[in-house]
Amino acid sequence: MRGRPIMVLVVLALSCLGVTTAGASGEPPPSGRYRVQGPSDPRERSAVAATGAVIDQVEAASVVVTAGEAEVEAIRRLGYTVTTVQGPPSREASPFDFPVADSGYHNYAETIAEIDRIVAAHPTIARRSGYGTSAEGRALVVVKISDNVGTDENEPEVLFTHHQHAREHLSVEMALYILHLLTDGYGVDRRITSLVNSREIWVMPDLNPDGGEYDISGGSYRYWRKNRQPNAGSAYVGTDLNRNWAYRWGCCGGSSGLTSSGSYRGPAPESAPEVRAVANWVRRRVVGGVQQIRAAIDWHSYGEYVLWPYGFTYADTAPGMTRDDRDALAALGANMASTNGYAARQSSDLYIADGAIDDWMWGTYKIFVYTFEMYPITASPGFYPPDEQIRPQTARNREAVLRLLEYADCVYRIIGRQSAYCGVTRTP
Ligand code: ARG
Ligand code: ZN
Repeated sequence: MRGRPIMVLVVLALSCLGVTTAGASGEPPPSGRYRVQGPSDPRERSAVAATGAVIDQVEAASVVVTAGEAEVEAIRRLGYTVTTVQGPPSREASPFDFPVADSGYHNYAETIAEIDRIVAAHPTIARRSGYGTSAEGRALVVVKISDNVGTDENEPEVLFTHHQHAREHLSVEMALYILHLLTDGYGVDRRITSLVNSREIWVMPDLNPDGGEYDISGGSYRYWRKNRQPNAGSAYVGTDLNRNWAYRWGCCGGSSGLTSSGSYRGPAPESAPEVRAVANWVRRRVVGGVQQIRAAIDWHSYGEYVLWPYGFTYADTAPGMTRDDRDALAALGANMASTNGYAARQSSDLYIADGAIDDWMWGTYKIFVYTFEMYPITASPGFYPPDEQIRPQTARNREAVLRLLEYADCVYRIIGRQSAYCGVTRTP
């Protein structure tokens, strides 16, 4: 009783100073994490996703979601039982940075600094450039790895994109791992040397720097997914970058039109500056009428999956996806998955998602693109593995990355169809 009026005064004083406290007016209600008992096939899971809840994890007869109160109610109305899920134990707070116990992770400034160290140590094969600016003004950076790195040579190109989703910090570490693998291995490892010599490899380590910084800035992890772009007329911030791409955008119930949702697709395709910047960059890789990027991986966590398109439809084949296309995508997906123990699936086998980067890259350019969902499999530790896992869980994908680079000149080779699709193969 006695403490109450003082609390109110403190909250009022803080709001006058422009300081917002959790739950204070103006702040949208927070989301929580829940287990939904019951959904057991792609259609049932897609119905859960269609409430606007984000599906974080898929099991045989249940899913784990991040959802707000209204979304939880809508899921209950589907007839499912909803219970709360515990997150990882909170680690010692460290405002505006990773917790002390997770200091092995790289925040935005540390990521840029590490990139600059790598480029400075290997100036003939590594080059950094900018491709745009985030909603809050952070530089969006791409690193090229190739011999004669300053020249646009006629070599198959491969793109790695990382960290569309803010809380998936392990994906940034995967980018730094790939950069180290290819530069430290050059001139040391024959296989890596020959790949760097014969490919042009592009790494975009952080598609969502604003969201990533926001996720770690509150003293404990916020489970943030979207970017940090304000939404006109709404207190809810952010667009789900992986629902904002301009191929069948919003077509199929695989994204939300509500700003409150974790899978908000934005007001228009490419409305997020971070998506627009990558898309413009990819469009500029069309040289002489031919898209140079042949293969790509978009890195996420968690679940341990190798996913291939499409995600907007359950169908295996669709406009722009022939039986040979699907078979080549599935064969290389299974081949890579055999090296890291992930499960290989068409992405819609989990649930329908529309406006995702992989559908756009395949649907627009026939880039052999995969979504990798990294470690772990389960909600604990979910999005926040301790930093001791960075080394083993990034190195786990070494062989898959090298195989994608090797097949990038003609992925149809993996189903024996190179002569039909890749022209005359020169003999040395
Ligand atoms: N977990 C990722 C997401 O929700 C998976 C995207 C896979 N791609 C797709 N087209 N469904 O964004
Ligand atoms: Zn993700």
